[in-house]
Amino acid sequence: MGIAYIHVVEGATGGSRDIAPFDFGSLRRRFNNTYIANNGYDLELAASRLAEGKADLFAFGRPFIANPDLVERLKTRTPLTEFNSATLYGGGSAGYTDYPAIAASSRP
Ligand SMILES: Cc1cc2nc3c(=O)[nH]c(=O)nc-3n(C[C@H](O)[C@H](O)[C@H](O)COP(=O)(O)O)c2cc1C
Repeated sequence: MGIAYIHVVEGATGGSRDIAPFDFGSLRRRFNNTYIANNGYDLELAASRLAEGKADLFAFGRPFIANPDLVERLKTRTPLTEFNSATLYGGGSAGYTDYPAIAASSRP
């Protein structure tokens, strides 16, 4: 069918990556176009999976909620702000627009 990509939540969404039984490696090998991996990735895990050829792209969910400048943080290896599940769906700015960007003074 010429499917351009698949976007795979590996494991239980927002939970364990080790949910069984599913062979994500087999899915990756059988699909010839872009494989986007998601669920519990950080920079180190994404870099190692990329180097191993286990995915082409990586999607980040919770880290983006807590880090509006996630891409810059990953590029500069700036520590990430912890995700706070207590402020999800709150209806106000808390946990929505108040996570801090990298302070200008700490930018490389
Ligand atoms: C607050 C919140 C809302 C989400 N809503 C959806 C949704 O509507 N549909 C969906 O497919 N996944 C949803 N997800 C799951 C994420 O897309 C993603 O698969 C999951 O957070 C794992 O990725 P992560 O470890 O990078 O956060 C949601 C996750 C969070 C934290």
